[in-house]
Amino acid sequence: MQPNLNIVPFVSVDNMMKLVLSIGVEAFLTGLAAYVEDDFRRWESFDKTPRVASHSAEGVIELMPTSDGVAYGFKYVNGHPRNTRDGRQTVTAFGVLADVSNGYPLLLTEMTILTALRTAATSAVAGRHLAAKGARCMAIIGNGAQAEFQALAFKALMGIDRLRLYDIDRTASEKCVRNLKGLGFDIHVAASAEDAVEGADIVTTVTADKQYATILTDNMVGAGVHINAVGGDCPGKTELHADILRRAQIFVEYPPQTRIEGEIQQLPADYPVRELWRVIAGLDAGRADPAEITLFDSVGFATEDFSALRFVRDRLHGTQFYEDLDLLADPDEPRDLFGMLLRAAA
Ligand SMILES: NC(=O)c1ccc[n+]([C@@H]2O[C@H](COP(=O)([O-])OP(=O)(O)OC[C@H]3O[C@@H](n4cnc5c(N)ncnc54)[C@H](O)[C@@H]3O)[C@@H](O)[C@H]2O)c1
Repeated sequence: MQPNLNIVPFVSVDNMMKLVLSIGVEAFLTGLAAYVEDDFRRWESFDKTPRVASHSAEGVIELMPTSDGVAYGFKYVNGHPRNTRDGRQTVTAFGVLADVSNGYPLLLTEMTILTALRTAATSAVAGRHLAAKGARCMAIIGNGAQAEFQALAFKALMGIDRLRLYDIDRTASEKCVRNLKGLGFDIHVAASAEDAVEGADIVTTVTADKQYATILTDNMVGAGVHINAVGGDCPGKTELHADILRRAQIFVEYPPQTRIEGEIQQLPADYPVRELWRVIAGLDAGRADPAEITLFDSVGFATEDFSALRFVRDRLHGTQFYEDLDLLADPDEPRDLFGMLLRAAA
């Protein structure tokens, strides 16, 4: 796939959509979830650091690097809740996978769509390990860009086929209903968040608002529910009332990052939390009984993007869904970089 050393495969948004559709959205989510699980299982082989975040009044721009010693990956991602008002996405991203042995990039790809897919796949992996057995009904509060991906990942991995949707903007819920039509869901559009959580086994919160919001209050969360809290992912940006956290078993990705960005920023810095990778690796039993409230306090961690980059690189082989990008200088004699510049003028 890489005939010249200077050529890097580049996956545009158009090609990502073609790749995803050629595989099938649910098959893509299932395949990606397997990579996410594999990488969580070998958690200790990764270089880990909280992501590097640059905050502003409007949002955040973040770099998310990690390496397993063989490959290195990073994602550039933003989060700007007010962006949709002028036609922009709240979250956009692109990323790179590189070869640790020589530092050369192996892949440059769009990651806006890929982030929605990897976030949903990770949520469903957590749900499969933590939700009560037999869960079929999920509430989704916040019906924006991430919502349908979440629904399809929980269907593909856990058989969730009943949805209860709520958004402060009803047109967002109606968009979800349109997009998910014919995909095997029984959908109820709720009049309020209280209505949405009624009878739901799993509650996904995936709203965007740069504040300490209270999407769920304590009285809305009954025994046995699994909460998949996706939208609270920045300092000062949360979705759950702190009383819920005190009743729940809390599972996180990388504690040093989640303590800054997750729902648990509302709790003391030494409050006990459990690590999702340990559940996946079989070192933590996860849910202890059907009445327990479990919470996946998702913020998104670099290994999940690394898994997504690996998955895309592996699936690109034998396809036409990439372009050759002239990204790296390649003088005939490696030290004659300036000579190459001079010869370009000739
Ligand atoms: N944890 C992760 O890994 C991860 C990954 C991607 C995105 N996110 C976060 O998920 C959130 C959603 O992302 P998106 O791309 O879908 O955003 P989006 O702007 O497309 O959609 C957000 C939706 O939430 C709705 N909303 C806002 N406040 C609400 C409230 N109080 N009650 C009900 N609905 C409400 C909005 O009307 C909108 O439809 C963002 O906060 C984003 O930062 C987290």
